[in-house]
Amino acid sequence: MDRSIKIAPSILSADFANFGAEIRAIEDQGADWVHVDVMDGHFVPNLTFGPMAVKAFRPHVKTVMDVHLMIAPVDPYIDAYAEAGADVLTAHVEAGPHIHRTLQAIRAAGMKAGVALNPGTPAEAVAHLLDLTDLICVMTVNPGFGGQKFLDMTAKIRTLRQMIGDRPVHIEIDGGVDPTTAPLVVEAGADVLVAGSAVFRGGSVDQPEIYGQNMAAIRAAI
Ligand code: DX5
Ligand code: ZN
Repeated sequence: MDRSIKIAPSILSADFANFGAEIRAIEDQGADWVHVDVMDGHFVPNLTFGPMAVKAFRPHVKTVMDVHLMIAPVDPYIDAYAEAGADVLTAHVEAGPHIHRTLQAIRAAGMKAGVALNPGTPAEAVAHLLDLTDLICVMTVNPGFGGQKFLDMTAKIRTLRQMIGDRPVHIEIDGGVDPTTAPLVVEAGADVLVAGSAVFRGGSVDQPEIYGQNMAAIRAAI
């Protein structure tokens, strides 16, 4: 599997009236994946996109559409996000009692299965899920909003890296990733870096080269 470092801009920090152009701009500027944050106003205190919006994003995404569900329950919506075209669908381990079944259902629907861990949740919560998952998302903020301060989870990342061993499982970091924090998480074993504010800051679809410079600054730091 590809353990090279991948940058996944979160379109939570994009212009909400212009998603198609924003997605094309970040991909043209070298984004490896596109990260889509789905929030339900219940599991997290914010609301974003449903499956219809995600389906509308799909034709604009040429790389990998990485959909992060911050919703509970998850299972009733898995097929809708498969139809919307998610490549990776990530559910939180805290979102319900049956994460094992949820991961099986995500794979059965034809997607890569991700599992996310809130800052307060230990690495051991995924110990029995390692063969059912393609990606572990380590939250380095409490989910719900972009632009929050990075929480140091490097010890957890190191533990997960050891637990994963040779399995083809990505470690994704989500929250507060910027040129200062990216080297810490990469050194600990992460390979997918979600970044919202640190990629979109200062740029726009009329000035997409700023997105490119912001991503280059993250890459240069690691
Ligand atoms: C937070 C989301 C993140 C968020 C990251 O709940 O899951 O993907 O957009 O934003 P930054 O990079 O600004 O912390
Ligand atoms: Zn996210």
